[in-house]
Amino acid sequence: MREEGLLTTVQSPEEIEAEIGLRPKRLEEFVGQDALKERLSILIEAASGRGESVDHLLFSGPPGLGKTSLAAIVANEMGASFRSTSGPALDRPGDLAAVITNLEHGDVLFIDEIHRLPRQVEEIMYPAMEDGQLDIVVGKGPAARSIKIDLPAFTLVGATTRVGRVAPPLRDRFGYVARLDYYDTSDLAAIVARSALLLETSASPDGCEAIARRSRGTPRIANRLLRRVRDYASVRATGEVDAETADIALEVFEVDEAGLDKVDRAILHAIIDKFGGGPVGLSTLAIAVGEDPETVEDAYEPFLILEGLIQRTPRGRIATKRAYTHIGLEPPAGDGQGQFPHP
Ligand SMILES: Nc1ncnc2c1ncn2[C@@H]1O[C@H](COP(=O)(O)OP(=O)(O)O)[C@@H](O)[C@H]1O
Ligand SMILES: [Mg+2]
Repeated sequence: MREEGLLTTVQSPEEIEAEIGLRPKRLEEFVGQDALKERLSILIEAASGRGESVDHLLFSGPPGLGKTSLAAIVANEMGASFRSTSGPALDRPGDLAAVITNLEHGDVLFIDEIHRLPRQVEEIMYPAMEDGQLDIVVGKGPAARSIKIDLPAFTLVGATTRVGRVAPPLRDRFGYVARLDYYDTSDLAAIVARSALLLETSASPDGCEAIARRSRGTPRIANRLLRRVRDYASVRATGEVDAETADIALEVFEVDEAGLDKVDRAILHAIIDKFGGGPVGLSTLAIAVGEDPETVEDAYEPFLILEGLIQRTPRGRIATKRAYTHIGLEPPAGDGQGQFPHP
């Protein structure tokens, strides 16, 4: 079995289970993203004041920033039921028709990975979103006929890690499109403290901060690191999550001071050792580190770019001077823009 890095976006069944208990249920429990929360609360209050459903919402952003949590919060705040499905699960128009005709008045329908909705499913989504009508063809051949069904008012909440891949006509039918940003250390520390409380683990403020600093701006990772530090603390230390315990535990799990795990470091090493600092194409790089291109692009690259460790150029990925320094190598002379001589 290949070992996943501790910072992967691939979720184990154990983690999916663990996350349920840590999900914020109300807007006020949702830490950070203040501007977004304010706008959402305006939409929610205004809609409930009018006795209407909230307009359709699209949340975009990297994995683990709280898109699913926010969608469920919208339903909670509206006192509505939350129905959840995903783009890839809605294979045929009939799949969507089945889900949508089962909705009740005011329900929130959550479609995760909405950029992966097949085209012909997407097309029946348009009139459903716009006019509250489902247009479907029933039967086959000469007996086929088109029927229109009136739908109850509902709110579609879509989530995507790739807003650029959501077809423009679909994107335009959302009343509000929000981008979730990476969290700063103090918000992440607050999330860790909240989770520690829910996990009945004692955690000091500096312990929460030590975890937050290595969580690459991502609540899901903060919670994951907390669970690992808590494991370490309970069997190798006093049980208390403090800064020292967090530092040692995260070293054991190969998460470095900057929050890079071994896959991140393998990416930097591959660009530098195998491809002379780059540029190297995404798929070649992915093969070199044994991940698939989509995982490298969605899960690892954004953070490495954010940290100024790699750059994406039209010719491929390049390692910056900072990347060399980070893995303990002397950067070659040059401007750090991929102009390095090949070794
Ligand atoms: N703003 C937040 N405040 C508190 N916890 C959060 C926040 N955002 C995310 N989380 C935690 O991180 C986990 C992952 O969030 P999730 O909503 O599943 O992210 P996404 O759907 O964007 O991948 C959740 O279980 C939740 O516990
Ligand atoms: Mg999600």
